[in-house]
Amino acid sequence: MSVRVRKAIFPVGGLGTRFLPATKAMPKEMLPVVDKPLIQYAVEEAQAAGIEEFIFVTGRGKAAIEDHFDHSYELEKTLEERGKVSELEELRRWLPRHGSVAYTRQMAPLGLGHAVWCARNLVGDEPFAVLLADDLILSRRPCLAQMADAHASVGGNVIAVMDVPREHTKRYGIVAPGRDDGRMVEVAGLVEKPAPEKAPSTCAVIGRYILDPSVFAHLGKGMKGAGGEIQLTDSLAAMIGASPFHGLRFEGKRFDCGDKVGFFEANLAFALARPDIGAAAREAMKPYL
Ligand code: UTP
Repeated sequence: MSVRVRKAIFPVGGLGTRFLPATKAMPKEMLPVVDKPLIQYAVEEAQAAGIEEFIFVTGRGKAAIEDHFDHSYELEKTLEERGKVSELEELRRWLPRHGSVAYTRQMAPLGLGHAVWCARNLVGDEPFAVLLADDLILSRRPCLAQMADAHASVGGNVIAVMDVPREHTKRYGIVAPGRDDGRMVEVAGLVEKPAPEKAPSTCAVIGRYILDPSVFAHLGKGMKGAGGEIQLTDSLAAMIGASPFHGLRFEGKRFDCGDKVGFFEANLAFALARPDIGAAAREAMKPYL
């Protein structure tokens, strides 16, 4: 049995250049899919996996995220006065408990590995989760909950993986697989963004991780990798062999919401899956097909 995962890091320090001009004055993580910001999907997924402490690694211009996870007294009072009870209850339902949210600033966008390292003092010496809000997953059981179940039985590092077309390996960290039962794959090696002909497999890492705190010592070396950034993948690769390390082929479909077409597709899929607007969305799409 391994220690339960109670803390999650949400790195939201990226610049979101692929979504300019939308992200000029608004964080990428506040882009809505249907009617909910990406970051709220990630926080709700963490809550469903039993996470109790929410650590945001922010950067310049991310104040909207702090406001989003706080009470909005004027709005709540207005909803109360207008008798909008269900809207009010819904607004309060997903707010984290007082004192369970912490923010730290990534003072320069030096890469995902650096963002995670910036949260080291808030995490301390226990296993923790990392969720990238721009990877949005539509599944029956939330992806992080599936990973927490796996982590409870195998411990060590558990990362979410999925098979991708070989021509896409350059977009991902790619696993060199060890033992593989089709659902759980032993991570025998990891390479960040390999060219298709150099990729050790087509098993790609996506933005959900449960990690052992010993990763901070590796990240602290500040080694730069692909693209001149401090890559999380490189420190994970350095941990192979030290403790169990598995990739979980989660149940569900992942959308790359950091990419325009992926974001568009997520809006379609989430709208169609919604009981309240699914039928109307399907009807609205018909003339375009
Ligand atoms: P991306 O590679 O998507 O970069 O980061 P980005 O800056 O957010 O977006 P583009 O490419 O300019 O459009 C992947 C994840 O890592 C986080 C991002 O917030 C995103 O969740 N990240 C990246 C950081 O928190 N800090 C960094 O220095 C880099």
